[in-house]
Formats: sequence, structure tokens, C-alpha cells
Amino acid sequence: MEHISVIGAGTMGNGIAHHFAMHDYPVVLVDVDSERLEKALLAISGNLDRQAAKGLLDPSRVPEVLSRIRISTDLPAAVSGADLIIEAASENLSVKLSLFQRMDALAPAACILASNTSSLSITKLASETSRPSQVIGMHFMNPVPVMKLVEVIRGFETSAGVTDAICELAKKTGKVPCVVNDYPGFIANRVLMPMINEAIYALHEGVAGVESIDLIMKLGMAHPMGPLQLADYIGLDTCLAILKVLEEGFGSSKFSPCPLLLNMVNAGELGVKTGHGFYSYGEKTKQLKVSDRFLA
Ligand code: NAI
Repeated sequence: MEHISVIGAGTMGNGIAHHFAMHDYPVVLVDVDSERLEKALLAISGNLDRQAAKGLLDPSRVPEVLSRIRISTDLPAAVSGADLIIEAASENLSVKLSLFQRMDALAPAACILASNTSSLSITKLASETSRPSQVIGMHFMNPVPVMKLVEVIRGFETSAGVTDAICELAKKTGKVPCVVNDYPGFIANRVLMPMINEAIYALHEGVAGVESIDLIMKLGMAHPMGPLQLADYIGLDTCLAILKVLEEGFGSSKFSPCPLLLNMVNAGELGVKTGHGFYSYGEKTKQLKVSDRFLA
């Protein structure tokens, strides 16, 4: 695999492009929104500088890594020479179904079509294509350049050869692949999202405040980040979308999203990406400040 195209230049798409460019792959990063593409390049550049400052990357490599990433709003041109396309567009089934149809029509016959979806059915996405054996889930964790795990999701028709090729690529670029079968939320979000939702319910019911809930899970359960802060990083809209997929997929109210989460998403308080969620984010996301909404 030599040429990688990444579709969607949001939180995950820019991390995925960064990761592969750092490992010497030319990457084309595609989005419908040219502003998002410009912002993604700036974010990648800032993150590379941070890695260099921490001694994780030779500073002289920063321009070379950046030069391997090309941005584009032209999907046909961006995928015509791809060996692997990683779709990381918004967590919305109709958006992804139409993208998989287009990717299938435009990409070379041997190209593998992967999705970074957090919860949607890989088998369903594959059914929109003429190459279901070459469709697979490649679920990176946020932030991509830091987190080791890639959850590899085998759709009903994904071939063993394609699964092996994706695991090899992950290993070659320093990630640890873990193969799972295709059921709603796979493993990562099937386990994580009910915990985040329960933390939001506890806040909603006044059991404890934002900081206390996060502190209890950090100190008590040795989680590096509390569930409310983690939800802000994932994006509250993404959390809501995943919970809806779990609720519908399992037909169980145990995944019903907390009404507070719905209100926050409707109000556009989506976490780090909009500057407000359970916390407020200024220039430095490390200096946490609980959102005014949750201060007594
Ligand atoms: P985001 O909302 O930050 O970015 C999504 C991007 O997709 C936007 O820039 C949007 O303009 C673009 N987009 C929408 N429709 C498009 C189309 N038809 N063609 C090209 N670009 C299009 O979303 P985020 O958080 O980066 O999530 C992307 C995917 O990764 C979702 O499937 C999400 O579930 C998954 N994911 C998210 C994680 C997170 O922590 N945020 C973690 C792991 C997976």
C-alpha cells in the first residue's frame, strides 16, 4: 500500500493524515469544506511542532512530513490513484453510504475502502459497493498520533487477506491492531459510551458536579481523563450519534441518550471543537475550566 486518501478533515481525519505522513506515506486529505482543510493543515503543523518540542520528532523533519500531505475538495481526483481510502467524515449513515458509493465508483479496483466510523455497520457500508470483501473498519483512537490502538472491524464479507493487510499496515506504522466483528459500537464504544452517558445522567440528576464526577473516575478507576472531559474531546454530537446507533442496533433503552446531552448538542455546545461543552476551552485546553452552565 503506497497511496492513502483520507476523507473528512475533522478531528480524526487530520490525525490520521498526520500519522501516515509521519510514517512516510503520501496522503491526500479531502473535505467538502475548504476552510476545514486549511484548519486541518494548521492543526497538523501545530501538532508536529509540539511533537518536535517534546523530542518525539526531529524538528528538521516537520516540513518534510507536512509536504507529504496534500489537501483537496476534489474527491474524484483525490481517490483515483489510491491504494487505501480511509473515510473519516461525520458520523452520519446517509453521508457515509453516499461516500462509499462514490468511492467505489471512483477508486481503482484493487483499492481497499476503510471507515473510521465509531459505531456504524461496516457490512451496511460494504453493501453499497461492488467490492464488499475489500471494505473494512479501521477505527483509530483520538488523538491519533498518540493512541496506539486501532480497532479493526471485519464486516460480514471482509476477506481474510484484506484484514491481514490492514493489520500489517497498522503494525508497520507503530499501532496495535485488534480485530473484532461487526456489531453496533464494536467493542470500544459499546463499552465506553454507556459509561459516558451514565456520567452525564449523574450530572443531570445533581448527584455530583462536573469536576467531582471526573475526579472520581480519574483517581478511583485510574482513568487518565474523566468521562465528561473525554466526551468533550470526542465531540458531544459524535457521542450522541453513537448512542443512537447503539440504542437502535440493540433495541435497548439502556443506551438512550441523556436529555442533557441532547440539549447540549442542540445548543451547539459540542466540546473542544466548539470551545464549550462540560468545560470551556480557551487557547490552552489543558487549563480546564468548568463551563459556566455547570457552576452553581
Ligand atoms: P468532525 O465533525 O470533527 O469532522 C468531520 C468532517 O467530515 C468535517 O470536516 C466535514 O466537513 C467532513 N465531511 C462531512 N461530509 C463529508 C463528505 N461528504 N465528504 C468529505 N468530507 C465530509 O468528526 P470527527 O470527530 O473527526 O469524526 C469523524 C469520524 O471518526 C466519525 O465517523 C466518528 O464517529 C469517528 N471517530 C471519532 C472519534 C472522536 O474522538 N471524535 C474517535 C474515533 C472515531
